[in-house]
Amino acid sequence: MKIKWYNTIESTNSAMEISKTELSHKEVWAARFQTAGRGQRGNVWSSAAGDNLTFSIYLEPRHIRACDQFVLSQAVSLGVCGYLGSRGVHAKIKWPNDIYVSGNKICGILIEHSVGGTFLKDTIVGIGLNLNQRQFPGNLPNPTSLSLETGRTYDVESELETLLEHIFEEYDAAGESTDSRYLQMLYLKDEPHTFTIAGSGEPLEGRITGVAQDGRLAVMTASGIRYFAHKQIAY
Ligand code: BTN
Repeated sequence: MKIKWYNTIESTNSAMEISKTELSHKEVWAARFQTAGRGQRGNVWSSAAGDNLTFSIYLEPRHIRACDQFVLSQAVSLGVCGYLGSRGVHAKIKWPNDIYVSGNKICGILIEHSVGGTFLKDTIVGIGLNLNQRQFPGNLPNPTSLSLETGRTYDVESELETLLEHIFEEYDAAGESTDSRYLQMLYLKDEPHTFTIAGSGEPLEGRITGVAQDGRLAVMTASGIRYFAHKQIAY
């Protein structure tokens, strides 16, 4: 497994994006500290230096149609949950790209694709997983870490290797069973919940029933099933 470790880097996703032409499939760049870590929806990803996993994987999933790209999010999320399970922690996937433990966020995933025709050309999967950090800035709504969940401390480099084994196993096996296993791990599935419609801020009573093949979240409401793309709904 080829892992390149940086002590300090702006953002492993951004650095890989710039160097794409020199990268090979499944290459991994990891940082002990990122000065400009990026999260979803243009947010900042901050992580205490040396405590956590902040890394990116470069993939060339050229067999996957662009319209089926959500399968990568599914495979990576299942890999992260499998890794956490191997450490005795039961995690759930909060659609689309967060991993939760008991209602708190332990890991965020930022997936950036480039498309060539109808197929994916390359994909950078950025992962921030809280490993040893025990105190977080007050502006984060609900952070947790593996260490807070288990009371142990972890060796960052060897944990990354184990996590990658889980992720690549899911990536290599991605296919028909991915969908059903993903649904079993879906946070709040079948549970009544009040969602928020993005933009209007309007509340919506419903329960998650699944995820469509194009990655939209399916929510059963009083007026039937409604489908939401990333950024159209919050919960
Ligand atoms: C999120 O939950 O908002 C996604 C967070 C993704 C953070 C990771 S850390 C490694 C990689 N480099 C980045 O700049 N972001 C991702």
